[in-house]
Amino acid sequence: MRIVILGPPGAGKGTQAARLAAALDFIHLATGDMLRAEVASGTRLGNLAESYMERGDLVPDGVVIEMIIARMSASDSAAGVILDGFPRTLPQAEALDGALKEVGEPIDRVLSLRVSEDELMRRLAGRFTCSECQKPYHLEFSPPREPGRCDLCGGKLTQRPDDNPESVRRRLTVYREQTAPVVGYYRQAGALAEIDGEGAPDDIHGRLVAAA
Ligand code: AP5
Repeated sequence: MRIVILGPPGAGKGTQAARLAAALDFIHLATGDMLRAEVASGTRLGNLAESYMERGDLVPDGVVIEMIIARMSASDSAAGVILDGFPRTLPQAEALDGALKEVGEPIDRVLSLRVSEDELMRRLAGRFTCSECQKPYHLEFSPPREPGRCDLCGGKLTQRPDDNPESVRRRLTVYREQTAPVVGYYRQAGALAEIDGEGAPDDIHGRLVAAA
C-alpha cells in the first residue's frame, strides 16, 4: 500500500506520518529528512540541495525524483510506504505515477492536511528538531522532558535553518504556487482525502487512520 501525506510547511506531516507508519507498520520516507541527511554528510547531492533548502525553495525535480524512486525500490518488500513531503510539484507526481505503474502498485490514498496560516506560523516559530533522529518538538505544544534533549534518543535539539521568518514566508509561497496544484491532481484522480490538521495530535492521528 502506498500513502502520500501532503500539506503546507508546519502542517504536521512529519509528526503524523511517523505515527501513522508506526500504527500501520509501514515505512516512513520523508524527502526533507533524506535531504537534510545528505546535507549533514556533505555529499554532492547535499551540497547542491543546501542553498535551495535554506532559502525555502524546492530542490530541482530531477534530483529529488531520482533520490526517492531509488529509495522506494529498495523498500519494495515492505507492506506499505508513507511518503511525506513528496510529491510536491506536478512533474514529481507524474514521475511517481509512472514509476509505480511499472511495478503495478499505484498510490492508494493521498491525505492532505489543512491548517490555517496563523497556526502554521505558530508551529514553525516554536519547532525544535532532534539532530539525530529528526523527531520534531514544539516549545509550547510538545516540549521534551529534558530541555534541549530528545526524549527518544537523547540527541541535541536544534532549530532548522529554514525556520527563520524569511524562509518560512518563501516556503508558504512555494507551497501555494507549486504544491497546491498537486492536491488538485490527486482530487481529480479520486485518491484525495482532505483532513482537518488542527487540534490535538491524537485527534488528527485518529482522522488520518480513519481516512487511510
Ligand atoms: P520538509 O522537511 O518536507 O519541510 P516542510 O514541507 O516545510 O514541512 P515541515 O517539516 O516544516 O513541517 P511538517 O508538516 O512536517 O510539520 P511538523 O510535523 O514538523 O522540506 C524541507 C525542504 O526540503 C523544502 O523546503 C525543500 O527545499 C526540500 N524538499 C523536501 N522535499 C522536497 C521535494 N519533494 N521536492 C523538492 N524539494 C524538497 O510540525 C511542525 C511543528 O508543529 C513541530 O514543532 C510539531 O511539534 C508541531 N505540531 C505538529 N502537530 C501539531 C498539532 N496538532 N498542534 C500543535 N503543534 C503541532
